[in-house]
Amino acid sequence: MDIAVIGSNMVDLISYIERMPKEGETVEAPNFEMGCGGKGANQAVAAAKLGAKVTMLTKVGDDLFGDGTIKNLEHYGIDTEFVKKVPGSSSGVAPIFVDKESKNRIIIIKGANQYLSPEDIDQAATKLKKCSLIVLQLEIPLETIYYAIQFGYKNQIPVILNPAPASKDLDFNRILTCDYLMPNETELELLTGLPVQTEEQVQHAAKMLVDKGLKNVIVTLGQSGVLWMTRNHVQHIKAHKVQATDTTGAGDAFIGCFAHFITHNYTIENALKMATAFAALSVTKRGTQSSYPTTEDLKQFLKERNMLSSS
Ligand code: RIB
Ligand code: NA
Repeated sequence: MDIAVIGSNMVDLISYIERMPKEGETVEAPNFEMGCGGKGANQAVAAAKLGAKVTMLTKVGDDLFGDGTIKNLEHYGIDTEFVKKVPGSSSGVAPIFVDKESKNRIIIIKGANQYLSPEDIDQAATKLKKCSLIVLQLEIPLETIYYAIQFGYKNQIPVILNPAPASKDLDFNRILTCDYLMPNETELELLTGLPVQTEEQVQHAAKMLVDKGLKNVIVTLGQSGVLWMTRNHVQHIKAHKVQATDTTGAGDAFIGCFAHFITHNYTIENALKMATAFAALSVTKRGTQSSYPTTEDLKQFLKERNMLSSS
């Protein structure tokens, strides 16, 4: 196994809208799409699509969505030994609204994801110890996140924490041993309490995290690319300009792709460059997982942009 994603799954219910309704108003949306999502599953699928061997620890409800989610993970070749059904619970769902500027608004109902516990990590311990990377987000209980971080640390397995969605309850002192902290600007702002309007401010906020002891802070900045900071290195990698259709799940695409390449002997810099291209391609299509490119699409894109290189 290359990667263990310990995280969420959701069914995305995406409405493509002209505008949000006002209170008491009904508006008609031109399009609707349903697909498998959830930050954890999205990241798992992104990595698996590129060929990574991925196992996923997650919980689904005992409803139709739960069965569909398991089938979907299997479809991408993801190991589902530790995907459990929670009797009496609904699956996680995410009503999503995407506007004409391709910007999204997301509501999550965690459902069964709320029941992923430290015991589930213990049960999967033997398999987890065979993985070379653990990937975490914040759509499961925080206690489970802290436990997974400890597990990674004790067993010398690198950990990526994507602190999304932003949570003010996250205890900073319990995430310090993560090898890669990967927030977006909003999450960085909430983590540090510092403004993130300009590039300098972003750097300043990232530096605060590095000063506290975090090894690699990687801030995804949407159209502005990504900032990577360590104790003695700062680098800004530009985003690719593309025609955006739906940016939902682009951050997850980025992280899943980065996880794949970092476990396949790429340097951090080159893995970030691949992730930048992969995420750019994902925003050109509707949906989350369904919009993620394959290795072939990615290669073709890099060729067009004259950036095809190896590790
Ligand atoms: O990051 C995008 C994801 O956030 C969506 O797939 C939705 O399910 C929510 O988890
Ligand atoms: Na997309």
